[in-house]
Amino acid sequence: MSAKIEVVNHDAIMQEAKSYTNGLKYHINTMGCKLNENDSEKIAGMLEEMGYVLADKVDDANIVVFNTCCIRENAEEKLYGKLGELKNIKAKNNMIICVGGCMGQEDHVVEKLKKSYHHVDIVFGTHNTHMLPEMVLERLKVKKRVFDVWNIDGDIYEGLPIKRTSPKNALVTIMYGCNNFCAYCIVPYTRGRERSRRYEDILNEIKELAKDGCKEIMLLGQNVNSYDGGNGYKFANLLRDIDKIEGIDIVRFMSPHPKDFTDDVIDAIAECKSVCKVIHLPLQSGSTNVLKAMNRRYTKEQYLTLVDKIRAKVPEVSFTTDIIVGFPGETEEDFEDTLDVVSKVNFEQVFMFIYSVRKGTVAEKMENHIPEEVKSARFDRLKALADSMTMEDIKKYVGTVQKILVEGESRTNPDVLTGRTRSNRIVNFVADKSLIGKEVNINITAEKGWYLTGEVVE
Ligand code: SAH
Ligand code: SF4
Ligand code: F3S
Repeated sequence: MSAKIEVVNHDAIMQEAKSYTNGLKYHINTMGCKLNENDSEKIAGMLEEMGYVLADKVDDANIVVFNTCCIRENAEEKLYGKLGELKNIKAKNNMIICVGGCMGQEDHVVEKLKKSYHHVDIVFGTHNTHMLPEMVLERLKVKKRVFDVWNIDGDIYEGLPIKRTSPKNALVTIMYGCNNFCAYCIVPYTRGRERSRRYEDILNEIKELAKDGCKEIMLLGQNVNSYDGGNGYKFANLLRDIDKIEGIDIVRFMSPHPKDFTDDVIDAIAECKSVCKVIHLPLQSGSTNVLKAMNRRYTKEQYLTLVDKIRAKVPEVSFTTDIIVGFPGETEEDFEDTLDVVSKVNFEQVFMFIYSVRKGTVAEKMENHIPEEVKSARFDRLKALADSMTMEDIKKYVGTVQKILVEGESRTNPDVLTGRTRSNRIVNFVADKSLIGKEVNINITAEKGWYLTGEVVE
């Protein structure tokens, strides 16, 4: 679908805002996926251009933005809890509280915020994130609540300022929205229809990143291999063109949909040196019956054939996946099919989720919901299998040399540096901090269950 593309110019608003924001601080709470994180980077970019500076902690902030996610049920309670915590400190900082992101597109959440959370000042949705400066300025000028959510399929806004959390290893959204309507999923309702950015805009963004020293990028979209740049320019073309950009050594992408994994994309992955040979290939279920009910549009056999086909062309490939346990109607036999696929594919990592009912989705109205205790027993069994396979798989790295980008200090120990293998395994090692942001070869000396340790090869 071709969406309207608008280049946003906020210059006048940013200028005016500065007379209000002198010395004021912001805090953003990012509650969702990588796309949500990338949106938060744009929110931070806009707030900084308005004159706000980053607060050390939420208590010091004069504006707090909750960039919400509603992929699973428990997120809502989490948001209400966090909002409750701010009630008492709001007055102290004259704090403006904003709620945006995916929950902003849910009518029942917006209603609840309007009626029961009077200390929330601004509510916006995924389609008008770019309008945040206007909303904040309005709130600064007139002490009135601003609720503005757009119910549209979605457009594309270019030219927003961006404050990246990790500029050496950057997120680049290539498309927005989703047309797949998997029966369990809220995303098509919160993010609107699929729309692709112009490839020129994507390539320019990546060239700029490379000029600033970025080494690794992650291309983002709900279904990246249905990227459509127009005139036959598809995801495979994008991978090939990005591969030519000097300085970008590692290209990852998330997520491709198995039903759209064309030979052309497989060839591009095989040919492009920079493209990571680890593919996140969401399975969701290993049972053909459940996949049909989920509206995933592939069977167990088609998934396994695809894995084999990719392995034949890209021998060093490994896979990670997402699985939902306890979808309505899932029988013991269906669940065993999921275990079977997990054993056969030997995933590098499995991200597991217990099915969670989402309002307005097709699965919400299905009759045969699975009791909580059955869901959690199956989850535990899947986890045990996946963990044992991961523990086994990680052993293959010991004794090998892995090229990694040094990302920074380890979260738990500042004396240790950390990075990831091309296949996304964490590697910790002791070395000089001047190596941060550089690529180094690491001799892997041990595995620690879920991460690796090693030393720099001189
Ligand atoms: N576009 C991506 C998915 C994004 S959502 C894809 O198609 O793979 C990330 C993951 O959350 C999904 O892969 C799915 O495993 C999980 N998820 C989505 N909706 C869910 C629900 N209602 N209950 C439990 N897990 C869910
Ligand atoms: Fe949700 Fe399916 Fe779209 Fe992924 S492809 S975002 S799971 S509807
Ligand atoms: Fe959550 Fe929205 Fe991402 S629901 S997973 S933040 S697209």
